[in-house]
Amino acid sequence: MRTPLIAGNWKMNGSTELVEAFGQAFSSAVLPNSLEAAIFPPYPYLGAARAAFAESPLALGAQTLNPHPAGAHTGEVSGPMLREFGVQYALVGHSERRQLYRESDEQVHERLLAALEVDIVPVLCVGESLAERDAGHTLQVVLHQVGYVMSRLEPAQRERVIIAYEPVWAIGTGRTATPEQAQEVMAGIRAYLAEFDRGLADGLRLLYGGSMNAGNAAELLAQPDIDGGLVGGASLKVDDFLAICQSAG
Ligand code: G3H
Repeated sequence: MRTPLIAGNWKMNGSTELVEAFGQAFSSAVLPNSLEAAIFPPYPYLGAARAAFAESPLALGAQTLNPHPAGAHTGEVSGPMLREFGVQYALVGHSERRQLYRESDEQVHERLLAALEVDIVPVLCVGESLAERDAGHTLQVVLHQVGYVMSRLEPAQRERVIIAYEPVWAIGTGRTATPEQAQEVMAGIRAYLAEFDRGLADGLRLLYGGSMNAGNAAELLAQPDIDGGLVGGASLKVDDFLAICQSAG
């Protein structure tokens, strides 16, 4: 019922050469019919990626966006600009943005609204730190991040959101959440969404992120409440990302 999405977040990595390699490999690749796959490259590569992915099933995503449509915001990129480059998804509230650039829940909410404004699907990233997990606060932290944003949206806006659960301690560490740990939090998020609307909870896509790779993806994606992956490091290798996509069928 829920279409799986495998999203490759290149973070501040990549090159024109890598864009070309993905374009070539995915233009001839056979992916599961019902799968959506997207690459989120750094901004300078969006134009090249749009051209290189044109004959492939790869969609384009952005790693963040400014809440304002235009203006005096040196160094920033807006939703309408991303839309012009064919961007279909945008991450909001990635833990690296929350930690390194001090993005608050309020700013995450504003960015998410800016994405919706231009018909870009926002991928709301949430997740707990190791200290929060060890203190037994995982669900409380995650549901606060989800709730802050979702409670401020109209019902029709909520339906357009994708949520990515990424335990901070599993990002880039090689330490993946076990399928059971990930499923437990995903089920908690879905139960929370059901408080808004049962149909919303059943239809909204939940992605897992945190050291997902070609070896562990199938087991994670087999969990009933995991509808896809937000892949960092393994999305920089064509073969690995392809294998993850193929295990999502
Ligand atoms: O956006 C992707 C996540 O932060 C996961 O990164 O797969 O390198 O752990 P990772």
